Amino acid sequence: MTVVDVHTHYVPAGWPELPGVGPRPTLRVDSPRTATIMLGERPFRTVTDTAWNADVRLRDMAEHGVDRQVLSPTPVFFSYDQPGDAAAAISAIFNDLALDIAAQAPGRLIPFCQVPLQDTDAACRELERAVAAGHRGVEIGNHVGDRDLDDAGVVTFLQHAAALDVPVFVHPWDMPSAPRLGRWMAQWLVGMPAETHLSLLAMTLGGVFDRVGPQLRICFAHGGGSFPFWIGRMDNAWRERHDVVGGSQLPPSGYVDRFSVDSVVFDERALRLLVDTMGAERVLLGTDYPYPLGEQEPGAVIRKAGFLSDDQRALMLSGNADRFLGGKA
Ligand code: CO
Repeated sequence: MTVVDVHTHYVPAGWPELPGVGPRPTLRVDSPRTATIMLGERPFRTVTDTAWNADVRLRDMAEHGVDRQVLSPTPVFFSYDQPGDAAAAISAIFNDLALDIAAQAPGRLIPFCQVPLQDTDAACRELERAVAAGHRGVEIGNHVGDRDLDDAGVVTFLQHAAALDVPVFVHPWDMPSAPRLGRWMAQWLVGMPAETHLSLLAMTLGGVFDRVGPQLRICFAHGGGSFPFWIGRMDNAWRERHDVVGGSQLPPSGYVDRFSVDSVVFDERALRLLVDTMGAERVLLGTDYPYPLGEQEPGAVIRKAGFLSDDQRALMLSGNADRFLGGKA
């Protein structure tokens, strides 16, 4: 069985000065093995060589029985707030650097690209260029400013990805900030699950799954955020509240066969809810490696879950990712 982790991130060991306006991400090298992503003068995140060194990643993978990782961008680089041409150039820079990292372990580090999603035509062009260059999928942020995933331009991009047979991984980012969200990592612990919930609300109640065909392979990070837990509440609103009725052909529960979620939920009871709600064939191993909010023992929650059959466990560790990646994992 080939174990595939569909949710990991990379940060390149360096990059040229980025175009655009305002503070652009730079990398402050702190030691041979550590660096800090800077936004202007502000430290955003400290990273270690796990973020860019293929050998270090392969060693960690071997230790935890992971055969393949999908390498996705770290969302701070998406640059959706930049002019489209600057964001397109930034996407190309990072996508090419990702290919350099992946080339050190062909077939084991599977690169996913980023695109300038604020500019639909540019996003479709960069997707085509990146896939031709070796990318195997695309990671998108869960919103573009005030535009959610039911935005016409985003839907056009999703239709294009489906037509190209390219899998899409949706990652929350750019969480709302407010004084009350400034403590306890609330933007990550409350904001991120809520962001993903809102994205799936847009996909279901916004009628996106009615407009984009079932050939779209799309997976949402962090177990789909709060969405799976609250399907009953949303279904009830779809039946009872006139301002929700009519936007989609089906209630939210009617679309759970149209998307996948990863397994970064840490707790066997949460994983059971996902399997009961989505089906074992739509939950994929993901870890958020190499970040501290990720599953520190990759795959542990799936491997230790006593309620899973061996067949279900194999699907979640391997077979589902193979299907998500187009049968080419
Ligand atoms: Co992540």
